[in-house]
Amino acid sequence: MISSIRGTKDILPEEIPVWHFVEKKLHEVSNLFGFSEIRLPIFEKTEVFSRTIGADTDLVNKEMYTFFDKGGDSITLRPEMTASVVRAVIQNNLLQQSSILRIWYLGPLFRYERPQKGRLRQFHQYGAELIGTNEPEADAEIILLAKEIFDKLGINDYNIIINTLGNTFSRMRYKEILVEYLRNHIAKLSPESQVRFGKNPLRILDSKDPRDLEIVSECPRILNYLDKPSLEHYEKTKKILEKNGITFIENPFLVRGLDYYSHTVFEFQSPYLGAQNSFGGGGRYNELFEQFNYPKQVPAIGFALGIERIIIILEEQGLKLDNYYPTAYVATTKPEYLDMVVEITQLLRKNNISAIYELQKRSLKAQLKEANRQKVLFTIIIGDEEYQNGFVTLKNMKDGTQRTLTLNDTLTYIQNYQGQI
Ligand code: HAM
Repeated sequence: MISSIRGTKDILPEEIPVWHFVEKKLHEVSNLFGFSEIRLPIFEKTEVFSRTIGADTDLVNKEMYTFFDKGGDSITLRPEMTASVVRAVIQNNLLQQSSILRIWYLGPLFRYERPQKGRLRQFHQYGAELIGTNEPEADAEIILLAKEIFDKLGINDYNIIINTLGNTFSRMRYKEILVEYLRNHIAKLSPESQVRFGKNPLRILDSKDPRDLEIVSECPRILNYLDKPSLEHYEKTKKILEKNGITFIENPFLVRGLDYYSHTVFEFQSPYLGAQNSFGGGGRYNELFEQFNYPKQVPAIGFALGIERIIIILEEQGLKLDNYYPTAYVATTKPEYLDMVVEITQLLRKNNISAIYELQKRSLKAQLKEANRQKVLFTIIIGDEEYQNGFVTLKNMKDGTQRTLTLNDTLTYIQNYQGQI
């Protein structure tokens, strides 16, 4: 038996209705907010990610699926989509057509992480990017879009955590102050944070290791080191959120795992998820275009949601959706009548009635059992009389009643019945 790769998940037919439910809401809300979909390759040149996400992040260091293809090029299965979107925007000159871009996407991503509840090696994200503006209204717009999605999905129990990382100047200044502070406590930090100290000290701030928490709780706060434009941007963003009825929690230690962020960062956290409590997050990335050698700064902000985590929340909340079942099952008393069975099944389908038929030449009893298992509303039975006279027996599987009808009347009967339920 060859099994699937650890950390990947087969999404089985019985799980599909909830995926479709989520996808439908994502389409609806994206349209409502005037965002257009983009579909991008699932692999890219490695540098698309290594150059932008940050050489010292866990994502680039430990989690990327990188390989050399047969031509000797270094290729990476996308671990996130923001960098790919920026690459595509530049390559396809999208900013020449419109100076503001509203883009959304949905698709699989790959991260070599330790699998656990809500953490997979292949997972799916929905994301939205608002590119071309530094206005705080755009920061709020992205969070409002996320909230609308949660409202439409019926997810109400979650927290919005926000913070600011300021502009590059403020962040650099704060980094120095932070390093100075942490240097005095380095021996007490967790081994992981000791490594981070030299490489990516800001990431120590959102460590969950108890050894780090106390030290971090006493550390200098970035808010005290922001320059005026950074502080104003943050204050304005919060004001717009408040005005639009968004409740949020400020956490000065929220940093997030990707290095391209500046100014606003945020996460959506749910009590239903356990250790991996964040089911979405994002932030501003005003310097990302320049990392692709784009000649000018293009301010942008976006976010992404983990679909598997959204589905865990919906299931924990008790959402149960019916599978899709065909309306009719066409059965026959004799395998010789299969030609008519196929013809009638096709006729039903042409009239928008979903239908399947017996393919194993089983007894009528077995076929009726199968029809019940398939949860169809009607079984159409072709017997000797029916085959010869052009009539069929229509059995209502709910109440067991049977009637003999012409084919035309059968179609009308089923269509009327469907119209009533
Ligand atoms: P991220 O926080 O790395 O952000 O991922 C966003 C969401 O993807 C997470 O909140 C989580 O729900 C889901 N996720 C991440 N890793 C896994 C995993 N191993 N298994 C299951 N779900 C996972 C980004 O990727 C940014 N590109 C978001 C963004 C868009 N920032 C600006 N624009």
